[in-house]
Amino acid sequence: MLCALYQLQAVSPKNKKQPVKQTKQSYLLATLPDKSLYFKSDPKMDQFITNLISQMTLTEKLGQLNLPSAGDFTTGQAQSSDIGKKVEESKVGGLFNIKGVEKIAAIQRVAVEKSRLKIPLLFGMDVIHGYVTNFPIPLGLASSWDMTLIEQSARIAANEATSDGINWTFSPMVDIARDPRWGRIAEGSGEDAYLGSQIAKAMVHGYQGDDLAQNNTMMACVKHYALYGAAEAGRDYNTVDMSRVRMYNEYFPPYKAAVDAGVGTVMASFNEVDGIPATANRWLQTEVLRNQWGFGGFVVTDYTGINEMIAHGIGNLQKVSARALNAGIDMDMVGEGFLTTLQKSLDEGRVTQSEIDRAVRRVLEAKYRLGLFDNPYKYCDAERGKREIYNLANREAARNIAARSMVLMENKQQTLPLRKSGTIALIGPLANNPENMPGTWSVAARHSEAISLLKGLQETVGKEVRILSAKGCNFEYDAELESRSAMFGKNTYRDNRPKELILQEALSMARQADVIVAALGESSEMSGECSSRTRIDVPQSQRDLLVELKKTGKPVVLVLFTGRPLVLNQEKELADAILNVWFPGSEAGYAVSDVLFGKVNPSGKLPVTFPRSVGQIPIYYNYKNTGRPLSDDARDNCRFEKFRSNYLDECNTPLYPFGYGLSYTTFQYGDISLNANELRGNQTLKASVTITNTGKYDGEEVVQLYIRNVEGSNTRPVKELKGFRKIDFKAGESKTVTFDITPDDLKFYNNELQYDWESGEFEIQIGTNSRDVKVAKVNWLK
Ligand code: BGC
Repeated sequence: MLCALYQLQAVSPKNKKQPVKQTKQSYLLATLPDKSLYFKSDPKMDQFITNLISQMTLTEKLGQLNLPSAGDFTTGQAQSSDIGKKVEESKVGGLFNIKGVEKIAAIQRVAVEKSRLKIPLLFGMDVIHGYVTNFPIPLGLASSWDMTLIEQSARIAANEATSDGINWTFSPMVDIARDPRWGRIAEGSGEDAYLGSQIAKAMVHGYQGDDLAQNNTMMACVKHYALYGAAEAGRDYNTVDMSRVRMYNEYFPPYKAAVDAGVGTVMASFNEVDGIPATANRWLQTEVLRNQWGFGGFVVTDYTGINEMIAHGIGNLQKVSARALNAGIDMDMVGEGFLTTLQKSLDEGRVTQSEIDRAVRRVLEAKYRLGLFDNPYKYCDAERGKREIYNLANREAARNIAARSMVLMENKQQTLPLRKSGTIALIGPLANNPENMPGTWSVAARHSEAISLLKGLQETVGKEVRILSAKGCNFEYDAELESRSAMFGKNTYRDNRPKELILQEALSMARQADVIVAALGESSEMSGECSSRTRIDVPQSQRDLLVELKKTGKPVVLVLFTGRPLVLNQEKELADAILNVWFPGSEAGYAVSDVLFGKVNPSGKLPVTFPRSVGQIPIYYNYKNTGRPLSDDARDNCRFEKFRSNYLDECNTPLYPFGYGLSYTTFQYGDISLNANELRGNQTLKASVTITNTGKYDGEEVVQLYIRNVEGSNTRPVKELKGFRKIDFKAGESKTVTFDITPDDLKFYNNELQYDWESGEFEIQIGTNSRDVKVAKVNWLK
């Protein structure tokens, strides 16, 4: 399907204008199922569940709301024991962190053969960016701006995970994040609500497909609802406080998009919202999620989310458990507050039987819709796993998707692509480091089998190029600091020899080379959960190495591994080219080589702003003007203006803006042409731009549409992403891209939380990133 689509666009003679006929909403969204597909009324199901509930004891009911971790991995303090016994006693509704058909079938057998009512279990897992075959980390996937590929990655992940017994994934993570100090920025789609919403839909559809009852689709869980990405100071789990206007306009849309796409479950976040932890927040979990958005599935807490409300300071375990249930939480992950206290709360009148039954019903409905009552072993076909998991086709897809997620940030004197000749010195702690290729949250990856950069390069160039490789330095000078980022036992391969020795070994290789490829950045667990950083630099040990490599006088290509935006001022100066590969997944080395040698022309664009310094954070493209904005000229030339909103010691602009990314070729944008300058009511504005590939290479470009509401009753951002297209161009080819814009694209939540648009002047901005745009103006009256 993918190929067919690209062929349609691509067959055009050189230098000929070719209109691109797509509506702004991509074809993917057009095929998205309505959420009613998942939640359509089903009288047979209702009757079955009513009948089942009528037979259940209170313990059996509370058991359905209990989700212990089977203990293969833990992210918190707690771990449950005696799982088998609890399942037999009907005290478990589902398990997570257990994988493998044999293990899962064995424990499912206990549920359906030994427990009194034989209710099957759900099996959850953090299948975040692939299962055994790993795709780039979500922030990397988002950089592809390619919804087809993103959906494909989720589809493959679901196929693999369900072949291994799993039927529920704790993904997509759609938390908007504007603070790169927060390590979990790696797990989401970046800073923008529109891009994040498109990705949320693509992921949900990828996992759930069109029919949840198939054995190769799995239930998705959108998380972490809500606002988890706005943790103060970028410190994980920290307090969140924001206006409702901001919630609705900038942070809620991706969660809502997942709900609209029919996501089966929602995970409550750890943070508080409006002074009440999300897990006990009835406004959030019931008023917004169910009453306003019409969510029909069940809500699960995050890991020990209920128990953690004791530390939040809103009560003891009994109290917080009752509050969670009252708020609309249905399932309790790990902490067993529901299991151990709700009986008492029921006796004391703190919760009602109907609230408990409501939660039980929602959990049972999910099991029913998955088809588990018909066949509890439907995901337990070991033969299927042998065929489906980590097979050649999946690995090929992972390689392709990874290459298309990479962002070319610098390419001075066209250092890239590399030629297949001479000698390459591949230097750095990420040069030969398979375990760190898949990135954070890769719980089912075969880490030691992931393709290192060294292996990928060697296999790509064969005998044509001599490759010398050395580490050059450790991730950090400080061994203790380095060891903090070794979650799930991931190895950083620390070299304990004296640092001078490690450096000299690398420099002697660098001096023999024609070009140096420096593989530097974060280790994979320097981002992800509980990996916040106050200094978001390339660590000093690696920076020092880069300085030394540069002194050799050889061209230096920085292959940057990172799970977050880094402050790259020095690297920008030092490196001749910077290719940001994020964490590319299991096929990392092959995918990076494909891009370095030009087999794939990079087309990724940043889904998040890269600051010049930590002091600028939070920094994002869709900011609002103050009453004292910098003049455009001062802003663009980094000139200080007294009594204007700026810094004494830093520019206002970022180092790399949202939407930014280079290609080996160049694209020239013509002016915007509009079908009208004055519009009324529900008319459609057509904004067209002709783009020409003016370089030597074929390449893909992400054409971005931003809109600015110049004047309104409320203050509005200086621009907001409202559409994009990823289009391929032959060298020399021109294409005209037309965006259809309707009043729906102008709507926002005002300070009364009414969602509407207002008459007035609008700027239509189209460009290659959020900074470099063509602008046209229209008046649009109601
Ligand atoms: C994380 C979630 C994850 C859960 C289960 C928590 O620590 O916040 O994102 O899904 O653990 O592993």
